[in-house]
Amino acid sequence: MTRHLISSADLTRRDVEDILETAASMHDLQRREVKKVPTLRGRTVINFFFEDSTRTRSSFEIAGKWMSADTINLSAKGSSTSKGESLRDTAMTIDAMAVDALVIRHNASGACHQVAKWVRCSVINAGDGTHEHPTQALLDAYTLRTRLGDLDGRHVVIVGDLTHSRVFRSNVITLKTLGARVTVVAPPTLMPSGIGAWSEADGFATSWDLDAVLAGDDPVDAVMMLRVQRERMSAAYFPSAREYSRRYGLDARRMARLPEHAIVMHPGPMNRGLEITADAADSARSTIVEQVANGVSVRMAVLYLLLAGSDDHEEAPARSVLEGAR
Ligand code: CP
Repeated sequence: MTRHLISSADLTRRDVEDILETAASMHDLQRREVKKVPTLRGRTVINFFFEDSTRTRSSFEIAGKWMSADTINLSAKGSSTSKGESLRDTAMTIDAMAVDALVIRHNASGACHQVAKWVRCSVINAGDGTHEHPTQALLDAYTLRTRLGDLDGRHVVIVGDLTHSRVFRSNVITLKTLGARVTVVAPPTLMPSGIGAWSEADGFATSWDLDAVLAGDDPVDAVMMLRVQRERMSAAYFPSAREYSRRYGLDARRMARLPEHAIVMHPGPMNRGLEITADAADSARSTIVEQVANGVSVRMAVLYLLLAGSDDHEEAPARSVLEGAR
């Protein structure tokens, strides 16, 4: 694995498989009474979130703490960013304190890529604007593999607000890396510009018609619903919430058309009643809560693989992930 995790495209199939296998061994820790291993003792991880988060921030913090790293959370409010300090000065200030990793969420696409050029520590992208969210794609792949096994040839349908979704971009890349087939579905107004060339180059399908995809000849193994990101919308992208739900929402009627083994995913947070109904979100097919739990294991794996084996550090407990746990 490289020093940073900025884009899902940074990861080869071998890298993704290493992360998912390491995450599986980390997952055992969640079932233990004492969830603490010394793996990252002496390392410092800063979680700097310039945008709000519940899942990503807390799971990175838990992941670091369970592996005995010193984890510190910063947000734009309460840091000197609110006084006008630039991203470059902020990043260099944090790096000067000899931290080992900087986990960043930022509203600007490309922010993590820039920061990685300015600092010595590892940079992990926890979501940059509408660009990418690589650890979300990894935890989704982990969830899919846990439920469906090998993803080679599996058909995953991603539905919703593609224009504003970093989850969709990272998921398409990671799913294709693992050999899955992907169809993305959105209203024409929420289909990103340039997707035609991208889908042709990377071999995934696009559609404006969810019902046609669900009823098509290609059985669906998983349907991943995306949040309608109203906070990023400066115009009306669909006539009404009711109309959006009618055409693109997942409800019991559409779920009934899925093969029996197919699963329902959502990265969260959900707009219940808009892109997904409560009965779909809370059904036995839903992996939404499981995805959150898997997020901790996958982020432990990412921190471990980036930090524990680094030549810069005196300890390199390569094969002793859970060593020392009681
Ligand atoms: N899926 C996700 O990134 O959720 P948060 O915004 O709560 O971190």
